[in-house]
Amino acid sequence: MFKRFKITVVGSGATGATTAHLLALKELGDVVLVDVVEGIPQGKALDMWESGPIERFSVKLIGTNQYDETAGSDVIVITAGMPRKPGMSRDDLLKTNADIVYQVAEKSSRLSPEAVIIVLSNPADVMAYVAQKASKFPHHRVMGQAGVLDSARFRTFLAAALNISAKDVTAFVMGGHGDAMVPLVRYSSAGGIPVEALLSKEVLDGIVARTRTGGGEVLALMKASAYYAPGSSLAEMVKAVLFDERRILPTISYLNGEYGEQDLYVGVPAIVGGNGVEKVLEVDLTAEEREAFRNSIKSVRDPLSLLAY
Ligand code: LAC
Repeated sequence: MFKRFKITVVGSGATGATTAHLLALKELGDVVLVDVVEGIPQGKALDMWESGPIERFSVKLIGTNQYDETAGSDVIVITAGMPRKPGMSRDDLLKTNADIVYQVAEKSSRLSPEAVIIVLSNPADVMAYVAQKASKFPHHRVMGQAGVLDSARFRTFLAAALNISAKDVTAFVMGGHGDAMVPLVRYSSAGGIPVEALLSKEVLDGIVARTRTGGGEVLALMKASAYYAPGSSLAEMVKAVLFDERRILPTISYLNGEYGEQDLYVGVPAIVGGNGVEKVLEVDLTAEEREAFRNSIKSVRDPLSLLAY
């Protein structure tokens, strides 16, 4: 018998709720929204579910404070934790969020032992590592979201500079989800044309700088962490897994020798499908790009070394 997919979203803050809403609008599966705060996940899920007759989706949304109701999920999305406040770096959240993510991943994974876990909580590269430790899932079934968001920002700015549709722009970003991330201009194109052939170095340098601090730009404006583009990014990754799409997405993946790195979760291009990270793609990097990637990796290893996992 065929069954609907079931997706757990942990954290009913702005990002978790936006993600849950998008998952329902895209009819990817039934959604269970979980949070420790009483009433909020229940209320938000009910409100979204009631948009179903208008939006014409058949999936169901429920909100709960209990993990029991998440049992048998196909994908677990973890957005729980404290969001960034103005003036805070993603690493300031380190210890608080590591404890939260550990508990969430431990509880939810026991009830959905076959699930793929996608972590968004910041610092996302480190939190993916924590979630894998807590769940004890094979590494390929735990990944983090950052690159889809960072590259979406990159694509938005490239499309704006070219005055073309963002649909035709592909771009990717490597490294940790921090200001040291590495937007790869050389591997970015518009309608198949390398962007370097279309835009000047000055313009591209400006776009790269803006991409790196894209999260901070939104944060400074609205005094709260971004959630629309992060929600869309999560929904895109959930879909890639549930429909075994084998998308090439910049994904926080476990490295076991790739790019010369061991025992680390960090953003790299990967094939994402039904098993989670199907394969990490190793692309050639110039000496300068490799240096930037190494520098970015340091920004993941340093906070990771402060935690006892
Ligand atoms: C950002 C947060 C979600 O980049 O890290 O907006």
